[in-house]
Parts: sequence; structure tokens; C-alpha cells
Amino acid sequence: KIELSKKYQDIHTEAARFYFSNLVKSKNRGYDYLRNRGLDDKTIKRFGLGYSQDSWNSLMDYLIEEKGYSQEELLECGLIGKSTKTDKYYDKFRNRVMFPIFDYRGNVIGFGGRVLDDSLPKYLNSPDTLIFNKRHNLYGLNFARKNLSSRTVILVEGYMDLISLYQYGIQIAVATLGTALTSQQARLIKRYADNVIISYDSDGPGTKASLRAIDILVEAGLSVKVLDLKDAKDPDEYVRKYGTDEYRKAMKDAVPRIKFKIDNLKSYFDLSKDQDNIKFAQEAVNIIKQLKSPVEIDYYIKYLSEIVQLDEDAVKREIYGKSYSSRNLSNGKFNNKFNKKEEKPIE
Ligand code: UTP
Ligand code: MN
Ligand code: MN
Ligand code: MN
Ligand code: MN
Repeated sequence: KIELSKKYQDIHTEAARFYFSNLVKSKNRGYDYLRNRGLDDKTIKRFGLGYSQDSWNSLMDYLIEEKGYSQEELLECGLIGKSTKTDKYYDKFRNRVMFPIFDYRGNVIGFGGRVLDDSLPKYLNSPDTLIFNKRHNLYGLNFARKNLSSRTVILVEGYMDLISLYQYGIQIAVATLGTALTSQQARLIKRYADNVIISYDSDGPGTKASLRAIDILVEAGLSVKVLDLKDAKDPDEYVRKYGTDEYRKAMKDAVPRIKFKIDNLKSYFDLSKDQDNIKFAQEAVNIIKQLKSPVEIDYYIKYLSEIVQLDEDAVKREIYGKSYSSRNLSNGKFNNKFNKKEEKPIE
């Protein structure tokens, strides 16, 4: 099995070389596309970006005739498909810019291919194979892990987000490639970092994904903040529009996860209405209850009280129950009312 894994990795490496040489050997639409998106030659080379020709069999012919691999093997690697109608084999990636997917060591284990226009699907990705498991892998970790002495990573959605940030000198990002963050990926991050700055897209799906990712990351023992992209739709657009220094500033200003959750919740209410204030406060209390650190709890009680213009004591009673009086704070009962889940205080 180890030998077969090695062979599949070799196949992927040869395929990546093939796509890369397509991209650089002659002028082609793929190269123009990447340059138009602001990537320079150094970045293209570093990430091994390539181009799959507009052909049904160019990769297949190359790997079989020049490299001696079999159709069966290419099928198992997800690089070719077999037509159910004609029984004929065909290249899966055609007329796309190609992004090799690396494991944490830098071996090529899969591909993403992007169309050059706005046709669909925008990205085509390798299926899970013997050597590629989406749920266990993080794109870009092979690069980022060399720069994680500060034990802080940035979590992004896409290939272009990660690569743009890298070109702009921010080389501590990993990407989930559009799929929901898994607990396996969170544990993988924990091996290299203690702090995560989520920098997903600023659209609805990105915000939803951030909220889900927060809980999974906290579960893995990570401290989590969320970066505000202002009017940019994703980190790629942000860094190209505002530059490296501004992105670094946004990293510094990233919002602690509880504040992000409270602010997100707030956006669903019309706080000019009394009823909304009450409902919002009640639900926000449930967010604050997730915290363990008394200092943090107190901080967010203040924060919430100010938003809804309520007396802090009222919020505290909502949290601790009706019997709350400020004396309870010093009698050791304080933490018992909260989730037992271990949490790290924000730094
Ligand atoms: P986005 O739709 O945000 O694309 O998907 P993007 O990364 O900003 O891509 P560009 O800038 O338009 O080129 C985020 C990620 O979700 C995955 C990809 O990994 C993508 O980078 N995705 C998206 C797919 O796998 N398939 C798709 O059809 C779309
Ligand atoms: Mn998106
Ligand atoms: Mn994008
Ligand atoms: Mn995006
Ligand atoms: Mn915290």
C-alpha cells in the first residue's frame, strides 16, 4: 500500500509538471489568465500552477505513452474518467488553470482546476483517492508551517486567497478550499498553532462558514478571531486593493470570536424596537455563557449592556439566574453555572 501511495504521488508529480510546462512553454490562455489576476512568474512557479489544454486526452497520452502508467492507475488517481456510454477514457481537467494540492510535506496529492471564464463549475477538484482526503488536508500548510513561530495561522477559503496573500508577503495562511472546516483539519492546525484568524469571504456563506469554523476550532483548543475584510469580497481582493500593510492591520484588529458572534447576532435585530432588544439580549447571553473566564464574561456583559442600554446587573441576572447578587461573585459558585468545556481566555 505504501508503494502504491508512492506511485500515485509520482503520477501526480508528473501531471503537475505536465500542466506547468503547458503553462510556460508557449503563450496560452491559462498563463494570461493568471497574469491578469496579478500573479507573477515567481508565484506561479512556487505554487506549481499549470494549464490543462483544451483536449480530451493530452495528459492521458503523456502519462501512458511517455511515462508508462496505466489507464487504471490514472483512473484511481481521479485524473481521467471513463465514459459510461462509449467506454472511452478522457482527461477530466480540460482548459483550466491548474492548482496542485500539496500535503503538509509538499507532495502533490490532488488538483483544483479553474475555468478561464465564468462557466460552471468554477473549480473542479480531485476526488478523494488513496492519497488525497479532503477532510484531512489543508491547502498551503506545506508553506505556512515553516513560518508559524508565532503560532498564529490565517484560515482562508480559496486557492487564490492563499496564493495572493503569499505573494504579498503574508505566508501563514492555510485554505479549506471551500468545504466546511472539519475537526480533523482543526486538530491538524493545533499541531502548528494556538491562534487562528479566520479570513473567509465576506459574503453570507463565508460568514456562516466562519461561525461554524469558530466552534470547531475552539473545540480543538484554539483561540479564534475573525478578520474584517471591509468592502472586499475575499482576502485576494482585499490584499490586491489595499496592500500588505492594511491586511496586517486588519489581522491586528481581528475581532475575538465572542464579539464576532454577538455582532453577527445583532445584525438580525432591529434595535430601535424594545422587543428586539430583549430578544437579542437573551440570545446574546447564551453566547456569553460559552465563556469560562470570569474576566472575559465580565467584559462581554459590559459590551452587551452598552448595546442594549441595560443595567449590567440585569444582564448578570439573566446569566446567573434570578438569585444573582454581586456577592455571588466571590463565593466560588461562579463557574459552576457554565459549560464545563475548557476554554482559553483571549490574549
Ligand atoms: P469562491 O467561490 O469564493 O472562489 O470559492 P474564489 O476562491 O474566490 O475563486 P476566484 O477568486 O473566483 O477564482 C472558494 C473556494 O471554494 C472552492 C475552491 O477551493 C475555491 O477556491 N470551490 C468553489 C470549489 O471547489 N468549486 C467551486 O465550484 C467553487
Ligand atoms: Mn465564497
Ligand atoms: Mn476570489
Ligand atoms: Mn472567494
Ligand atoms: Mn476566547
